[in-house]
Amino acid sequence: MKSINVCLIGTGRAGMIHGRNYAKNVQNARLVAVCDPNVESLKAAQEELGVEIGYSDYREVLRDDDIDAVIVVTPTQFHCEIVVAAAKAKKHILCEKPFGVNEEECQLMIDVAKENNVKLQVGFMRRFDESFRQAKALVDQGVIGDVVLVKSLTHGPSELKEWMYDISKSSGPIGEVNSHDLDTLRWFTGSEVESVYAIGGNFRSPEMKEKYPDYYDTVSMNMKFNDGKLGAVDGAQYVQYGYDARAEILGTHGSILVGDQSKLNVVVANKDGEVNKSAMHSWTYLFKDAYAREDQAFIDCILHNTQPEVTGYDGLMSVRLVRLALQSLLEERIVYVEEEKSNG
Ligand SMILES: NC(=O)c1ccc[n+]([C@@H]2O[C@H](COP(=O)([O-])OP(=O)(O)OC[C@H]3O[C@@H](n4cnc5c(N)ncnc54)[C@H](O)[C@@H]3O)[C@@H](O)[C@H]2O)c1
Repeated sequence: MKSINVCLIGTGRAGMIHGRNYAKNVQNARLVAVCDPNVESLKAAQEELGVEIGYSDYREVLRDDDIDAVIVVTPTQFHCEIVVAAAKAKKHILCEKPFGVNEEECQLMIDVAKENNVKLQVGFMRRFDESFRQAKALVDQGVIGDVVLVKSLTHGPSELKEWMYDISKSSGPIGEVNSHDLDTLRWFTGSEVESVYAIGGNFRSPEMKEKYPDYYDTVSMNMKFNDGKLGAVDGAQYVQYGYDARAEILGTHGSILVGDQSKLNVVVANKDGEVNKSAMHSWTYLFKDAYAREDQAFIDCILHNTQPEVTGYDGLMSVRLVRLALQSLLEERIVYVEEEKSNG
């Protein structure tokens, strides 16, 4: 079978996860180049991944006829420019989430990829996680009857960088951690959100309240879907105890739980009467296999000329839901998707 030549654009935290997969774990793909304007990061990636060609400007990548596909893992603000240029250069694209800074960018990327007949996949790797996939298959088989309510949560452990307190830049946890949950709800319900209500507060960084009064580190959202199903998402940053991603799907006659707070299925009991499990510390560990499957699925959809499992539209809808939920939180009211349409 033909092999797809891949270039990684952006060699930071998430980029290197994809880079390691394409260097070693993905069949019918070859990592032929990497790109990053940060020379240190570029050199380190070339060395670790054993890749000879290193570009400091993505435009050079797009002029390289040997490259069939690009993995865009730059900061989100550069996704649109790079994805649009890559599509025009006829490169297939896997782009990390959040897909774009706003819905207009997302729509532009979708349109240009379509016009140029290239594959465009968005990086919601939970859709490739074995547990999430098994749960979805069980839901589709009707094991719990009809879906009634989908709950999903993500809590991130890390201390925040200063820019993240400014929600005009980060959107807070709704944007930073919950875009995956919003995608999970759409995936499990098979429906679109009709209305959303979000409440939140800053509980862990009181010293930032004066400078960033809108900042919230914890959020709780309730959603109603256009076919009557219900959704609930909670998100939190700087929780310190570990990385936590779980979901529950409640049906008319059953429930499915996905995820666990612990890293391994090992429980230790000691003489003091304590029972311990070690906490999951990072998304990179929890979703390692999911990233590998996501990267393989991207190559397979190019080779078999099928639609990517996670599309630009999924990326766009998640960006839209982040915006609507943030609007609900700031305006302290239920936001209806229809009200937007009728307001033009
Ligand atoms: N799927 C997930 O759960 C997940 C997790 C983490 C990050 N992400 C997303 O991945 C993207 C990157 O995040 P990160 O945490 O790896 O960031 P990072 O800051 O660790 O890395 C970004 C890299 O991109 C490089 N870069 C900047 N501008 C560039 C350009 N024009 N061309 C090429 N490279 C450029 C930077 O030098 C840096 O090395 C973001 O969109 C982020 O939201 C997704």
